[in-house]
Amino acid sequence: MVKGIKSDCYPSMPEFLPGIRRAPDRGYNLTEEQTQTALKNALRYIPNKLHGKLAPEFLSELKTYGRIYGYRYRPGGRIYGKPIDEYSGKCVEGKAFQVMIDNNLDFDVALYPYELVTYGETGQVFQNWMQYRLVKEYLEELTTEQTLVIASGHPLGLFPSKKDAPRVIITNGLMVGMYDNPDDFHTAAQLGVANYGQMTAGGWMYIGPQGIVHGTFNTILNAGRKMLGVAPTADLRGLLFVSSGLGGMSGAQPKAGEIAGCVTVVAEVDKSRIETRQSQGWIQMCSSNLDEVFVHAAMAKQLNKPMSIAYHGNIVELLEYACEHNIKIDLLSDQTSCHAVYDGGYCPVGITFEERTKLLKTDRKKFCDLVNKTLKRHYEVISKLAAKGSYFFDYGNSFLKSVFDAGVKEISKNGVDDKDGFIYPSYVEDIMGPELFDYGYGPFRWVCLSGKHSDLKKTDRAAMDLIDPNKRGQDRDNYIWIRDAEDNGLVVGTQARILYQDAEGRKRIALKFNEMVRRGMVGPIMLGRDHHDVSGTDSPFRETANIKDGSNMMAEMAVHCFAGNAARGMSLVALHNGGGVGTGRSINGGFGLVLDGSEEKDEIIKSAMLWDVMGGVARRAWAGNPNAISTIEEYNKAYAGSSQITLPY
Ligand SMILES: NC(=O)c1ccc[n+]([C@@H]2O[C@H](COP(=O)([O-])OP(=O)(O)OC[C@H]3O[C@@H](n4cnc5c(N)ncnc54)[C@H](O)[C@@H]3O)[C@@H](O)[C@H]2O)c1
Repeated sequence: MVKGIKSDCYPSMPEFLPGIRRAPDRGYNLTEEQTQTALKNALRYIPNKLHGKLAPEFLSELKTYGRIYGYRYRPGGRIYGKPIDEYSGKCVEGKAFQVMIDNNLDFDVALYPYELVTYGETGQVFQNWMQYRLVKEYLEELTTEQTLVIASGHPLGLFPSKKDAPRVIITNGLMVGMYDNPDDFHTAAQLGVANYGQMTAGGWMYIGPQGIVHGTFNTILNAGRKMLGVAPTADLRGLLFVSSGLGGMSGAQPKAGEIAGCVTVVAEVDKSRIETRQSQGWIQMCSSNLDEVFVHAAMAKQLNKPMSIAYHGNIVELLEYACEHNIKIDLLSDQTSCHAVYDGGYCPVGITFEERTKLLKTDRKKFCDLVNKTLKRHYEVISKLAAKGSYFFDYGNSFLKSVFDAGVKEISKNGVDDKDGFIYPSYVEDIMGPELFDYGYGPFRWVCLSGKHSDLKKTDRAAMDLIDPNKRGQDRDNYIWIRDAEDNGLVVGTQARILYQDAEGRKRIALKFNEMVRRGMVGPIMLGRDHHDVSGTDSPFRETANIKDGSNMMAEMAVHCFAGNAARGMSLVALHNGGGVGTGRSINGGFGLVLDGSEEKDEIIKSAMLWDVMGGVARRAWAGNPNAISTIEEYNKAYAGSSQITLPY
């Protein structure tokens, strides 16, 4: 090997800074033979000379953490997304992706930075630090005539390519059908051949919790309007929203609730995550006393004041208290990491967070039994609250599926299996699907790669000027979002912004930004999105939950989206297994497009931005979704002669 770890590269073990969260033991259960394979696999990155020293160390990592992270090869000090000019590279894309990777591993951004986990309990950028080093070296060398190919964090190499092809192609955790399940994934991950990329972790497009604040804001606002009779122009003042989780994405809930005007109470078992959100000013009060929590919530409700409260404790205890005390919860959800429910993502009731971490390591079977019991109790209290008038929705974290898998078969909608979903809706079924995805609205985002806040302000302004607040209610919400974005202090990590937009909106804003780069008004910009979108994801209980023609068993849309984006020259294309819901439960893809001001990029925007959205609207229209049909009718008129999308009779 000519790249990566050099034979004299044997850095000292990093000092694990106190206060930086560490991933729990993922569980080691390989056979002797598999263990040998796992060691050989990790040692492939290491010159032979060092194998004697590193084999025992890697074995110990595998047995202690259930993974080989190669901690020793983590570069010392702080990793963070620096201004693009501080990176070396032979093309702007090569430097831009280094900014994105480092942002995903920033102590302030990542959930378990030493274990390369960005968010969602298990969403990793790479499997190990050797891959990190190797990829960074390749990105420094990458030219506009090459494509870097990455399989579950492993860089296969730089391949000859062409200027308008993707510079990076990434896949994460894609498995052959018969092995496509969490147990086999667990084995493959221990062997060092599978990475759980979530979406923007392994797809290098995470922008901190802001990425999800806008989607959460849209969800609860529209839930209030649709289910609680809130007027189209009003906000959620005087209503109570209760949920759980203050982690990577779930941590967005209190901030989104505050922007939407309601009182938000979120239960969180891990004190350190509460402290993170408190230090960002995203929660106003924290207590482990439920009397206190609900007295303050009631006062704020009475005064019609937005208020965000963290309850340090288990969500099940909180809900049982609310039920016993007849506290009216208007909107109710859950955002524990149920996509990884037996891997530590969901804390059983009756034990502390610290006890959960210990139990995971010492007695996994007991841990799983407690998880199942808690899920049942959780479901029972939700049923009681729903009977009292709370609107409960699954927040795309596989909560209902986990309850079903824990043995609560009555939760199945068709009374037999999970194919038709569950008796409670997924938020996409009732809210995001019909109100946003069917029109093409999704999580468009950008990162100002110069690192300058002034660039972000200029782009915010330019995007706002392109939104007509009178077009639809959604456009009014988006206009208000971007108008107030600066004041809401949403940036954590790189200078990034999320703004839900439809196909035309995304295209127009992208063209404007590229022009601004061309004219030297701002530095280069990375465009992207997450997987929580119209086209990029096949996920029957989430993104495709409101597709009712039986095709939500299929994963073809996500593959088309990925292939189409590659064909049209997006700078990065990614396709992953699992995303936010777990191995085997979704296929999802993403993209990155680096705006360098060139006219070639204008051409890519014109075709790729439309494709990235309209492929999914076409699928939704074909399934008979009325808002998607009307969107396609408008599109077919506007693009007559150059594009044509099939509509159902
Ligand atoms: N809302 C969305 O739009 C959206 C999008 C993508 C994914 N998700 C899903 O939402 C889930 C959360 O994502 P995340 O990034 O915040 O994950 P995370 O693991 O960072 O955070 C989850 C939090 O829940 C806490 N928790 C676990 N069990 C608990 C319990 N019983 N009571 C109280 N707190 C408990 C954990 O301590 C943790 O801090 C994931 O399953 C993710 O895939 C949601």
